[in-house]
Amino acid sequence: MSNGWSVLVVDDEPVMRESLAAWLLEDGYHAEVAASGTEAVEMMRARAHDVCLVDLKMPGGPDGIETLRMIRALRPETIQVILTAYATIDTAVQAMREGAQDYLPKPCNPEQISLLLERLLKVKALERENRILRGRLDRRERAQEPVVTRNPKMLEILDLLRRVADQKSTVLIRGESGTGKDLLARTLHNMGQRSAGPFVGVSCAALAETLLESELFGHERGAFTGATARRKGKFELANGGTLLLDEIGDISPKLQFDLLRVLQERRFFRVGGSVETEVDVRVVAATSRDLEAAVRAGRFREALFFRLNVIGVELPPLRERREDIPLLVEHFLQKFSGELGLCGSGATEGALRLLSAHDWPGNVRELENAVERAVVTCNRGELTEKDFEFMNVQAPVSSWSAPNDRPLHEVERRVIEATLAKAGGNVKRAAQVLGIDRSTLYMKLKRYREDEESGGGKSSPS
Ligand SMILES: Nc1ncnc2c1ncn2[C@@H]1O[C@H](COP(=O)(O)OP(=O)(O)OP(=O)(O)O)[C@@H](O)[C@H]1O
Ligand SMILES: [Mg+2]
Repeated sequence: MSNGWSVLVVDDEPVMRESLAAWLLEDGYHAEVAASGTEAVEMMRARAHDVCLVDLKMPGGPDGIETLRMIRALRPETIQVILTAYATIDTAVQAMREGAQDYLPKPCNPEQISLLLERLLKVKALERENRILRGRLDRRERAQEPVVTRNPKMLEILDLLRRVADQKSTVLIRGESGTGKDLLARTLHNMGQRSAGPFVGVSCAALAETLLESELFGHERGAFTGATARRKGKFELANGGTLLLDEIGDISPKLQFDLLRVLQERRFFRVGGSVETEVDVRVVAATSRDLEAAVRAGRFREALFFRLNVIGVELPPLRERREDIPLLVEHFLQKFSGELGLCGSGATEGALRLLSAHDWPGNVRELENAVERAVVTCNRGELTEKDFEFMNVQAPVSSWSAPNDRPLHEVERRVIEATLAKAGGNVKRAAQVLGIDRSTLYMKLKRYREDEESGGGKSSPS
């Protein structure tokens, strides 16, 4: 079973490198061996291993320090560890200076290697995560992301939005979760003259009625307990620009009434205020709910529905525009591989076939997340079916039932083993699914193995 990390062992002694590789394999690493520095560099050119273990003394070619240097020039991201039987302060210092993260004294024992790699890779995993998060922030601040599509319906919608970009009529964007409603609202804003003004979004589902009221319309000082100062609402903040009322299907009857009035008159009172405020705002509303049904059921005011739906667009779910899937995969691959400095030269036909067949209940957002996760965990240049294995893993485990009347640690073991099997033996993915640390999972698996080896096959509580 593989843990997703790969290690290259560089040592001129066959016994040494083979036994190291065998331990690493047992630990779940993908391990390869090189007999010389020159061979190691060749191999690193073909594949960016996460870690290189490099022997210091290798006669008849580049020695450990030279090898470190060459690998560093080629793959600065790779963690390098020097192996040495002559660990002196001098060589250690020099190795560190050439980019080694650590060194291991020879002869090495498996336990030592496991601990060291786990520690080093934990840092690397955190760094990766950090880069992703930073990328996300950048993205949020970045101007306009493109709407990637070649679906006729989507192109028609974009065309319609372009034509009405400079009007003030309200736009209602509907579509399942993750179909791109938010993205489209921003796109509309940026298409017209309003792009010089602010784009303000507010989620109507997130707040209680009274809070939402003051969030939208602002309040005067002393309007209610805690209102210590006058505060502008989203309508005022969006003046001259666009206001996105997200999840509009969730607002209360009273707010539906207030909103209708604002949309008709473009004027409103701040909470606790007596003077009307006038604003120039283009309102865009979005929802994944069936508003017509809500109108029929009397939960949504018909007049407000018509007011919002002056220009109505309905985004098709991703499963109804599968021709967009390869384009979107390519788009997200570029985005993430650029941000992460990782692989991402494309996706294989097999991977695209698998992705094109999926139903995507979470639509484009789900696809975006899947590509991000695959880019983070893949080792090769191209994304393959294997990199998307986890998509089957996340299927609901509803059919699974816990054994009754068993001690907790036994139940735990069953859950862990079932999850691991579903993850195709990938410890990293299983740990993600289980929501625990990879090293914790290792520890538990190791204990199960030890229990089995000592006979009995029962696991003790950990
Ligand atoms: N056609 C597209 N091209 C490129 N990226 C897209 C496209 N559609 C959606 N996305 C991306 O997918 C993600 C989800 O889109 P968005 O947030 O707009 O969906 P939503 O319909 O508002 O979802 P929700 O109903 O859950 O709020 C975003 O990161 C968005 O940039
Ligand atoms: Mg949204």
